[in-house]
Amino acid sequence: MRKKVTVVGAGNVGATLAQRIAETELADVVLVDVVEGVPQGKALDLLEAGPVMGYDSNVTGANSYDATAGSDIIVITAGLARKPGMSRDDLLAANGDIVKKVAQETAKRSPNAVMIVVTNPMDVMAFVAMKASGFPRERVIGMGGVLDSARFRTFIALELGVSVENTHAFVLGGHGDSMVPLPRYSTVAGIPITELMKKEAIDKLVERTRNGGAEIVSLLKTGSAYYAPSAATLEMVEAVLRDKKKILPCSVWLEGEYGVKAAFAGVSVKLGAKGMEQVVEIKLSADENAAFMKSVEAVRAGCAKFM
Ligand SMILES: NC(=O)c1ccc[n+]([C@@H]2O[C@H](COP(=O)([O-])OP(=O)(O)OC[C@H]3O[C@@H](n4cnc5c(N)ncnc54)[C@H](O)[C@@H]3O)[C@@H](O)[C@H]2O)c1
Repeated sequence: MRKKVTVVGAGNVGATLAQRIAETELADVVLVDVVEGVPQGKALDLLEAGPVMGYDSNVTGANSYDATAGSDIIVITAGLARKPGMSRDDLLAANGDIVKKVAQETAKRSPNAVMIVVTNPMDVMAFVAMKASGFPRERVIGMGGVLDSARFRTFIALELGVSVENTHAFVLGGHGDSMVPLPRYSTVAGIPITELMKKEAIDKLVERTRNGGAEIVSLLKTGSAYYAPSAATLEMVEAVLRDKKKILPCSVWLEGEYGVKAAFAGVSVKLGAKGMEQVVEIKLSADENAAFMKSVEAVRAGCAKFM
């Protein structure tokens, strides 16, 4: 039996993710959106690309949730995206209501699924989804760190003129302006970038990474990034469906790790068939720890509105 992934929100991120899943034949996809005809139309279009691209994944679209029953993974991308000048937190109230409903409706029909939350402000929306679904923390995971570290990796590769495949980047904290890229754990072919670049050069890359989302928003003017976000989500979907036990930076509910209790924050986790199978803790310097705690507090403040 093929695996089944529900993608709620058939907008830029959701539809591009559906395309990536179909093209890699990872699973059948059900696209759900509130706009009548859009998920059905995009799903049919994707299905009709199959003969040319050579995939047999089934892609269906719907405006209700019955077709999502029995999904292995639910990806939530439903909501409003940022416009120029808007912060992720501006999206808080509107997207909170949407994510709550989506999590309830999907969890009811797929009680054993792993839920991946993309909608911004993502860390807070992951909390809303965990509460609304009633799922354990292992099965509600926020996507942000993989994207942030992909951006950091891109900038490192550009700066040093090396393959992106040689780069690894470590980003902790919330997926927002307070994210904490960690240069000494970011490497090129195993060599920490702190040995390859001057501090000023690294600081510039860190700043560009922090503003990575806003940089795209200001160029696009309408809407926000979706190629890299959907690619990052695909990596998480694949890690779960293939039980890869991949270590990736994801937002999860912390229960004492890093000395943090009862808050979502981006940390390195092991992703496999059960969802988040382990939080991988690293030693932080005093400065790094302070930046991480500041980031956690920023997420907590957002979550407080949904307690
Ligand atoms: N976590 C990340 O790293 C990251 C990266 C990129 C985008 N995002 C976020 O992902 C979300 C989607 O971004 P996008 O570019 O695809 O936006 P988009 O506007 O292109 O798509 C959003 C879709 O959600 C649908 N929608 C709205 N309310 C819904 C509901 N109640 N049920 C089902 N569908 C509903 C809309 O009709 C629309 O098609 C935004 O919140 C954006 O900020 C997060």
